[in-house]
Amino acid sequence: MDPLSAVTHPDPYPYYRELAASQPFFRHERLGLWVAAGRREVAAVLAHPDCRVRPPAQPVPPSLAGTAAGDLFGRLVRMNDGAAHAPLKALLMPMLAGIDPDRAAQRSAAIARMLAADAASRTAMTGDNVNRWLFTLPVVTVADLLGLPVAGEGGKAAEVAQRVAAYAAAQSPLADAQAVHAGAQAAQWLGQWLADAPSGDGPLPALREAAHSAGIDPQAVAANIIGLLVQACEATAALAGNTLLRLGRGASQWEAPLDDVVARVAQDDPPVQNTRRFLAVDAQLCGHAVKAGDAVLVLLAAASCSGPADGERAWTFGHGRHACPGDRLAQSLAAATVAALRARGADAVALARAFRYRPSLNARIPHFL
Ligand code: HEM
Repeated sequence: MDPLSAVTHPDPYPYYRELAASQPFFRHERLGLWVAAGRREVAAVLAHPDCRVRPPAQPVPPSLAGTAAGDLFGRLVRMNDGAAHAPLKALLMPMLAGIDPDRAAQRSAAIARMLAADAASRTAMTGDNVNRWLFTLPVVTVADLLGLPVAGEGGKAAEVAQRVAAYAAAQSPLADAQAVHAGAQAAQWLGQWLADAPSGDGPLPALREAAHSAGIDPQAVAANIIGLLVQACEATAALAGNTLLRLGRGASQWEAPLDDVVARVAQDDPPVQNTRRFLAVDAQLCGHAVKAGDAVLVLLAAASCSGPADGERAWTFGHGRHACPGDRLAQSLAAATVAALRARGADAVALARAFRYRPSLNARIPHFL
């Protein structure tokens, strides 16, 4: 096992614990990465002013550069540091914080009823069908909460979810040429869909208005709205999927409130296992001399082995300047998704007997067979 293969290993947690205890910050020569595994070191890297979310010379992954997917990526606050993106981020964060998790759960239940009424989804809860629900319901619910027309008559719920998933997949370093191409097409389709969408009664009109007053490029606003759907996609599917696995393995979990099980899974079997930072300049980091351009793999899942980050907040949601603003929403969406699946006959015990993890270098996403 190494810190990248750990992400999809059946039980990486003893390995993570061992790293956190004996090699809290080290250079992995074969991977060509610094690795932060101790909770103090993980927090220090995420707080360090010279540790950036992208390599300074490469704001967009080369495979996406020059495509619609690359343009979108380059505008995301998630993928940028510094002053240029601060005003938009200052508008996005309170907007997300203003979404009530209970309302999110209610909307998710209503949308689940709509999806179930759809002929294609009325079939039995096979692995395939469960996978489709995991990648559809949370994304469509976020779109709906933002006021985008997905749920009603003529809404394009399935296609929106599929395009968002294609765009998310194209960002992976494991994406092949076909996946990258599909991601570029998806970015273009989503941009057009958003541009054509009537302004609903969600928080988007106020966001656009405030951005306009602040002189923020409307294209950056549009990219980050799509970015929210993308952020909701793989990680929330993973949290819901890992919750199904937990339920399928431990009969006693069935008695606990679902929200509590999800919170435990975020802690103990986290959907996002690591993130990366890149050194902008030569610096001292955790007692080591690191060089401009060096990459640090930040093992959130290793830090998680010794408890939550702040209060109850799980490490899987990051920490510091780029910490996830969707953490409460994500847990609510994951619980609502699992509830919707169980209500429609998904059998967690059977699902937990036949699955593999999707190939990924950072997300632990079960794929049910
Ligand atoms: C289980 C689900 C989720 C997990 C595990 C997760 C995890 C994360 C992590 C680890 C980061 C920080 C990445 C880094 O520092 O390198 C992040 C950032 C972010 N997340 Fe989430 N996320 C989830 C769901 C969501 C949802 C549902 C939304 C919104 C709809 C969201 C919106 C964002 C945004 C906007 C950022 C960028 C923040 C910034 O760079 O300032 N996330 N997320």
